[in-house]
Amino acid sequence: MIKRPKIAVIGAGGNVGAAVAQWAVQKELGDLVLIDLKAGPAEGRALDLTQCGPWEGFNVNFTATDKAEAMAGADVIVMTAGVPRKPGQSREELIGINAGIVKGICQDIKKHAPDAVLIVVSNPLDAMVFVAKQVTGFPRERVIGSAGVLDSARFRTYLSLASGCSVEDVHAVVLGAHTDKDMVPITSNATIGNVPVSKFLSAEKLTEVVENTKKGGATLTGLIGTSAWLAPGAGTCLMVEAIVRNQGRVLPCSVELNGEFGVKGAFVGVAVKLTANGAEAVYEFERSAAEKEAFGKSVAANTDLMNIARGFLG
Ligand SMILES: NC(=O)c1ccc[n+]([C@@H]2O[C@H](COP(=O)([O-])OP(=O)(O)OC[C@H]3O[C@@H](n4cnc5c(N)ncnc54)[C@H](O)[C@@H]3O)[C@@H](O)[C@H]2O)c1
Repeated sequence: MIKRPKIAVIGAGGNVGAAVAQWAVQKELGDLVLIDLKAGPAEGRALDLTQCGPWEGFNVNFTATDKAEAMAGADVIVMTAGVPRKPGQSREELIGINAGIVKGICQDIKKHAPDAVLIVVSNPLDAMVFVAKQVTGFPRERVIGSAGVLDSARFRTYLSLASGCSVEDVHAVVLGAHTDKDMVPITSNATIGNVPVSKFLSAEKLTEVVENTKKGGATLTGLIGTSAWLAPGAGTCLMVEAIVRNQGRVLPCSVELNGEFGVKGAFVGVAVKLTANGAEAVYEFERSAAEKEAFGKSVAANTDLMNIARGFLG
């Protein structure tokens, strides 16, 4: 019998996990296992989503539980467990709390789903990808951070709003760290309908777009009172889809660099080909001198965070 993909979402009682599950059922990506510290919120999210089925026309096969062993045999695991950022709180401040949570869950993943591709969403993102890689011992192909998809979606959205052009035709990517300070929106090769963005926007306007992108998370946290979940869920689900459907999509994801960009051992957002094997390839491409410098600073900042996280690994 042909097996349906099994997708486990850990932290699924929360906002981002529930959003990942929602996009995944709408796309009919596979059977979903929703796991949370407390079974109630996971069961509630599953029931709520199941009751969308009659109108949305999907049949959902959910398992909702607080039991880690339910992830056994999962093809893809999405980790959204953790504490979200509070207004005014930096991602860096989250590190101590979330490293402990991610470490415990990764020990379960190693035990119950040793062949899964793991997508980490918990913040501070790049440091949590490092923790996940260290604890699971999985190859770098199978430990991937979701953040570049969100930051790039924000960048494309702000470019679209500033230019008045359809977001569909805006092609632009954010590399580097998933922090307000150190992410690197790449403007040098951003295009709208294949035309360089500089044809649409002045240097000042482009700087404004970059700044809006960088503070995109903080803007939403300020407005909603907690971090956003719909766009993070949509971006993460795009990664899940690329893996379970073996699409070979090239998306910005956080992975361990293995000599690319002249860097070894740091975890940072880069252009990655996603297939059924996970992060199958990492691509380098031409950037401006300023972007190269910013990327270098991003790597350094992430290495600092990684070293702080290392202290929580015991
Ligand atoms: N990378 C990104 O682009 C991005 C975007 C948004 C949010 N985030 C991060 O995602 C994480 C989740 O955000 P949220 O808004 O969904 O938070 P939330 O508080 O709504 O949900 C978190 C869930 O994790 C669960 N949880 C905590 N410890 C657990 C454990 N040991 N096992 C299983 N479940 C556990 C909680 O019970 C809760 O239901 C946060 O760290 C947040 O900063 C990342």
